[in-house]
Amino acid sequence: MGMEKIFEISDLNVKFPLGEGFFSKEKGFIHAVNGVSLDVYKNEIIAIVGESGCGKSTFVKTIMGLEAKTSGSVIFNGKNLDDFKKDDMKNFRKKCQMVFQNPFSSLNPRMNVFDILKEPLIVSGVKSKKQINEKIFEVLELVGLDKSVIKRFPHEFSGGQRQRIAIARALILEPEVIVADEPVSALDVSIQAQIINLLLVLKQKLSLTIIFISHDLSVVKHVSDRVAVMYLGEIIELADKKSLFENPIHPYTQALLSAVPTVSAKKYKSKTLDGDLPSVKNLPEGCFFASRCSQAKPICAVKHPKCIQISPTHKVACLYLNE
Ligand SMILES: Nc1ncnc2c1ncn2[C@@H]1O[C@H](COP(=O)(O)OP(=O)(O)OP(=O)(O)O)[C@@H](O)[C@H]1O
Ligand SMILES: [Mg+2]
Repeated sequence: MGMEKIFEISDLNVKFPLGEGFFSKEKGFIHAVNGVSLDVYKNEIIAIVGESGCGKSTFVKTIMGLEAKTSGSVIFNGKNLDDFKKDDMKNFRKKCQMVFQNPFSSLNPRMNVFDILKEPLIVSGVKSKKQINEKIFEVLELVGLDKSVIKRFPHEFSGGQRQRIAIARALILEPEVIVADEPVSALDVSIQAQIINLLLVLKQKLSLTIIFISHDLSVVKHVSDRVAVMYLGEIIELADKKSLFENPIHPYTQALLSAVPTVSAKKYKSKTLDGDLPSVKNLPEGCFFASRCSQAKPICAVKHPKCIQISPTHKVACLYLNE
């Protein structure tokens, strides 16, 4: 892993106003992303894990400029997204591509594979038929699909093959970054490994940076170089994969790991997540995890922990370490 930064994200906050609906009287905000700072390095696979609703998708959409941030900054290849001109944004859209959870809904059912793959090229101004053909066959080969698939439609493929088509489409404009939001969680377990291995090969071959969202730690264990654990819109632990799986510090990370049969099962056996999850409409002033934490002290209810460095490759937000 090189240490050159491709993304530098500082103190990012994303709030959604409540009560926008005509009949809704609710006031206030949903605090979806809360003070997230994260550097993403070139050619790494960084996983973002956490329970449903913790803000993973909102976070990645925001750093891609697809969701408006409330505050904070996102720097891509040294340039602040806020300072992007039209051309910068166009280039950024090519350089960062997304792969979604459900290839059934992310591929247009009325287009055949050729047209699905041609579309981004046309939008980005490629006109030469020869170039278009070459590029399409090149990406199909990269994702392990035969040339003969081009005339077929999405419904004619299995889930795994459809995800290969979605990955081919993401690759066709030669991106630097792939943001994969739960790319394998809709697939059969037997197929998941194939798609994950494909992503690993592509990362190597094309020097990709991959931001990989998952709620499944056993998947993350295979695919990632580093892991960021999110809880209620915050990164509460960030570490290289080995440290995170062998020496998780945050009680929440320990609880997540205890639910993974293959990982540290013995070590963190008794850590279940009891207690109430605070509402994202009304976050507590103390540690967001305190209400469910087996180790919480009185101070945890009133003081919010900062994410601090405990080794060169490991950060944790827990008051036990802040003291
Ligand atoms: N456009 C929106 N408007 C209002 N609230 C939103 C919007 N998008 C997301 N949210 C809320 O923000 C919070 C974070 O949602 P998000 O989809 O980012 O979570 P997630 O970690 O990706 O969850 P999942 O694992 O289920 O995909 C949730 O409370 C969600 O309901
Ligand atoms: Mg999501």
